[in-house]
Amino acid sequence: MSDTDVPGRMALDYHERTKHHPHRYARSAGTIDWDNQPDPFRTYIDAPTLSLPLDTPDPALDYASLYRSAATTPAPFTPSTISSLLALSLGLSAWKAVPGQRWSLRINPSSGNLHPTEAHLMTIGVSDLSDGIYHYHPLQHALETRALFPPAAVRAVTPHLAPPCLAIALSSIFWRESWKYGERAYRYCQHDIGHALAALSMAARLLGWRMVYQAAADADIAAAFGLDRTLWPAQEAEEPALVAAVVPATENHPPRVFPAAAVDILAAVDLTGRPNRLSARHQEWDIIPRTAAACRQHRGITPPPMPKDSRDKLQPSPAAAAAAAIIRQRRSAQAFDPDGQLDCDAFLAMLDRTIPRRDCPPFDAAIGPIRISLVLYVHQVLGIPPGCYAFIRHPDHLESLRAATSPSFSWTPATPDVPLYLLTPGDVRAEAIDLSCRQEIAGFSTFSLGMLARFESEVRHTPWIYRHLFWEAGMIGQILYLEAEARGVRGTGIGCYFDDAVHAQLGLQDRSWQSLYHFTVGFPVEDQRLQTLPPYFHLPPERPLHSQG
Ligand SMILES: Cc1cc2nc3c(=O)[nH]c(=O)nc-3n(C[C@H](O)[C@H](O)[C@H](O)COP(=O)(O)O)c2cc1C
Repeated sequence: MSDTDVPGRMALDYHERTKHHPHRYARSAGTIDWDNQPDPFRTYIDAPTLSLPLDTPDPALDYASLYRSAATTPAPFTPSTISSLLALSLGLSAWKAVPGQRWSLRINPSSGNLHPTEAHLMTIGVSDLSDGIYHYHPLQHALETRALFPPAAVRAVTPHLAPPCLAIALSSIFWRESWKYGERAYRYCQHDIGHALAALSMAARLLGWRMVYQAAADADIAAAFGLDRTLWPAQEAEEPALVAAVVPATENHPPRVFPAAAVDILAAVDLTGRPNRLSARHQEWDIIPRTAAACRQHRGITPPPMPKDSRDKLQPSPAAAAAAAIIRQRRSAQAFDPDGQLDCDAFLAMLDRTIPRRDCPPFDAAIGPIRISLVLYVHQVLGIPPGCYAFIRHPDHLESLRAATSPSFSWTPATPDVPLYLLTPGDVRAEAIDLSCRQEIAGFSTFSLGMLARFESEVRHTPWIYRHLFWEAGMIGQILYLEAEARGVRGTGIGCYFDDAVHAQLGLQDRSWQSLYHFTVGFPVEDQRLQTLPPYFHLPPERPLHSQG
């Protein structure tokens, strides 16, 4: 093995080591240290705060139009429109309460509701917002000012970052997840980045905008957004994940690379605010920073191609609901009615929606080629016999998956309309439950699925692709969450599954494909003991945009 393979080997070893097995889960603390539960909200103490408006009406776009290119005239960048973008992607969605306890939920889902993802905005030439860097604080629905750009810095960067410029960097606080999930936490942080990027991308479309992933070295993201010179409490640093430009959806040539020329200028800007401490004590999981280091992106990465239309026919969407209402009502189901039956057209349309198309969020964010196809456990779909199926998201996957999986699979096309193939017929409820760490939600649903990613050769040679695979999986999950809501059912992401048991069931003999995320969709059974409160009941409804020192 050459030296350049070492980071790839590290990523592969991490993956192997963090697999759950029926007889042995990935390493974690084993018990939950409730006294040290990380604060779910990062705040920058002493950073001037700009409260974002809470009384702005949601954009009126209907759900079906979310997936049509340029359906909306681009809104200007203002505090009010940026408020809508954040409220409909990373803001609070509700509070749940039982006597003596209350916890918030967000528009974007997160493994264990732990929310390791943080968002930092860069604005230049945006009306009513000083040029600078801001951290989004979902609890307060506010921007915390991390830096104000001096005029000389603005003059120096504008040749590279043309105003009006809005860029969003996402970062992960690994500790938030490892507190509960130990070594497997790095995977979940990456899933959550995918969910968050997709949530931003969908919300952007409501405003006539589009999120575009920008090729950037992680060190450059850290320098430009001030993460590299923030004094972090031990174990609570924010690791840069990605930067995306927000552009009008009508823009044909969005900036695909975060300009390295701007980084040196931005790196010299003074910062304000000190990060709060999230936990009093920490347990170290040193495999996580080592894997993060191995999977870092460095300069010189070329931007991935934009998605092309890989299929011309898009299945219809229910048009009646407002997109914002669907986004706001998204929740994870915790139990399903095992008798609920999903309509066949709805099922096929949901799958079809996961295929990237030109100008269609969230994959118009262009994070990279399609590397994931789906294995389905169909339980209760009218007109589709129960069984194990494959859904091929890219034509190139078909032969490769066929060759890699069990020779006993029939690969019978299930319908002429979408690339769905029956592998084995029969009741797969018990199997689905067993494979998903014995969680009943995988079998009492209408269908559940595993996301199979092209794996070993990609990760070995280009370790940062390891992160992108989880992002793609998270983005598929986010689509399925919304599609489920739009069609009267409900989804749940499943990060807990027995990796190699899934692979064995499929007959996979090597690591050319690996299952990276599971998902389930069904008719939810609500827990009547929980009280639901509105997302911002704790804040006054009409707040002028103001600044506190
Ligand atoms: C990456 C990921 C993995 C998850 N894994 C599971 C799981 O294995 N089992 C489960 O019941 N829920 C799982 N969830 C759902 C979360 O618990 C849920 O998103 C969180 O509690 C917040 O609730 P909400 O989605 O209703 O906002 C997962 C969610 C994500 C994003």
